Amino acid sequence: MIHMRGVVHHFLRGTVNEVVALAGVNLHVRPQEFVTIIGSNGAGKSTLLRALAGVVMADAGRFTVADTDITCWLEHRRAELISRIDQNPLASTAPQLSIEENMALAFLRGRNRGLGMAVTGKRRDVFRAALSKVALGLEDRLTTKVGTLSGGQRQALALVMAILAEPRVLLLDEHCAALDPKAAAQVMAITEKVVSEQKLTTMMVTHNMEHAIRYGNRLLMMHKGRVVVDVSGPEKTCLTASGLVEKFHILSGEILPDETLLTS
Ligand SMILES: Nc1ncnc2c1ncn2[C@@H]1O[C@H](COP(=O)(O)OP(=O)(O)OP(=O)(O)O)[C@@H](O)[C@H]1O
Ligand SMILES: [Mg+2]
Repeated sequence: MIHMRGVVHHFLRGTVNEVVALAGVNLHVRPQEFVTIIGSNGAGKSTLLRALAGVVMADAGRFTVADTDITCWLEHRRAELISRIDQNPLASTAPQLSIEENMALAFLRGRNRGLGMAVTGKRRDVFRAALSKVALGLEDRLTTKVGTLSGGQRQALALVMAILAEPRVLLLDEHCAALDPKAAAQVMAITEKVVSEQKLTTMMVTHNMEHAIRYGNRLLMMHKGRVVVDVSGPEKTCLTASGLVEKFHILSGEILPDETLLTS
């Protein structure tokens, strides 16, 4: 479903502050694979998702999604195939608009459906049905301003909005990081349900090693702009935090530099 070949990206290129954010990433993600991505601060996790979504245009490399070469597509066109949720609950939804207005925007994303932002009775039924899947009662609050919702409710809404656009690929960048543990657990449960029901191919960045191990069927660890650990199948099922740290050490020849990964 996703092919990335030779993806390289620098920030502040040619200056003394130049950063190699992606140092040549090759990745092949199969349809319906749920990939969790972990790694220390600055490893390049967000840049990888942003480069795939076209938020940043990579310096080099090729991207293919659903057998379509999207390397030259800009972000808005890639949105036909890819939905992305950010860690900031404020970033994925518009606080001054109501739930149904946010959903109308999501419905239109990446495609021309006519009728613009109009919230018709028929659309309201679609929105209610989609919201009822996350079982937070949001389907009865369509006209509530999104700015008044809790962080967890907003991220759950962002998930519903992300799948409304019927993407092939879902990218989650620490979408539970700003939530308290209870809300994070709730949003993760919703994520798992939505991903399996919609049969989405998913890449989820997390700083929570327990989430990275527990969810999904493949785990990547990034370090210095590269994928240094890639575990899937039964090996992933049996993976433990200490086993992962040891694997990182063996494969990268370094000690895991970010202890927060172990404590979160
Ligand atoms: N807009 C930018 N301008 C300059 N440097 C950037 C920019 N965005 C990212 N970087 C740098 O690129 C590198 C990779 O950053 P990235 O955000 O992808 O890391 P990350 O793995 O997502 O880290 P974190 O866990 O802290 O979110 C880092 O060194 C970061 O400082
Ligand atoms: Mg990041």
